[in-house]
Amino acid sequence: MAEAAHAMNDLTPIRWTGDALEVLDQRELPWRETWIPCASPEEVARTIRDMAVRGAPAIGITAAYGMALALRGPGGPGKLREAAEAAARTLAATRPTAVNLAWAIDRMLRVVVSSLSGGRDAATIRRRAEAEATAIHEEDVAMNKRLGRHGAELLPHECTVLTHCNAGALATGGYGTALGVIRAAVEAGKDVRVLADETRPYLQGARLTAWELARDGIPVSVICDSMAGSILRTGEVQAVIVGADRIAANGDTANKVGTYPLAVLAARHNVPFYVAAPSSTLDRCTARGEDIPIEERSAEEVHVVAGTRMTPPGVPARHPAFDVTPAELISAVVTEDGVFRAPYVFDRRCGER
Ligand code: MRU
Repeated sequence: MAEAAHAMNDLTPIRWTGDALEVLDQRELPWRETWIPCASPEEVARTIRDMAVRGAPAIGITAAYGMALALRGPGGPGKLREAAEAAARTLAATRPTAVNLAWAIDRMLRVVVSSLSGGRDAATIRRRAEAEATAIHEEDVAMNKRLGRHGAELLPHECTVLTHCNAGALATGGYGTALGVIRAAVEAGKDVRVLADETRPYLQGARLTAWELARDGIPVSVICDSMAGSILRTGEVQAVIVGADRIAANGDTANKVGTYPLAVLAARHNVPFYVAAPSSTLDRCTARGEDIPIEERSAEEVHVVAGTRMTPPGVPARHPAFDVTPAELISAVVTEDGVFRAPYVFDRRCGER
């Protein structure tokens, strides 16, 4: 295995400088590492909407810092509530499927509201909000490391793992979920090779998963999405591991479009199909997969690849950005609290996360 050029846990797509937020522009990877400075919730919302930052946990963390930035303006406590609520609306509207977004925004709003009802001054509220956003970021990395260790135990000593999209450090505060399991297995001395689905139309697998695993010296090969079936049939793959944008109370899981067909193929070939996600991705208020909103993105993203139009003029395209894998196809859900198997019952009191 190639020597890792960096520590396995040093990559984060989001930097809070104490004054401002900087977001790694993932649209530019693997060609260039460009950081986008954000000074307002509107700028933060744009980085999320336009996919500069993506991945459910990373979106949530970025939005939390966006909420903190919203409180920077002039005015006393009364103004802060208005500013926080306006920012919450703007940020929540950016991407509908990833539940971590609403989860992080709610958490930030609760800090503002409870500080206001406790009679705190504006400076204290701003400080508390920044501390909360930083805590959301740091807790995410800690959850990923814990879930990574649980998931690593599911993998044989030598194995090939197939993954879809990017559920790595780039999609989270750091370390990753599906890729966190792989990192933890490698750290535990296991010999893991990865097959990364390229993941049309945004190519998160080809561009991002391949980039961050190669950076860590973890062996990775990119495959076209349509190659997964015949490769699974050969018996070469011991596990499929993906992340999640939202896990309903019954275990049905929304993730990047193409995850569901992969789960069907894994079941057909008796390969275990694991979902790795922090508890902030569990949506206990949504009973089943059918109730998860699926983001429909612009058809242009399907028509145009790397600046070149691939389809004839006048022919429409479709772009549902996520699909739902029914719980019956999921061998286990791995969170920081352990490994859960069917029947999945993530239905504690709604609102308690
Ligand atoms: O559209 P994206 O790139 O935000 O989609 C990301 C995914 O589907 C990831 O698998 C998911 O958010 C889990 S990230 C740990």
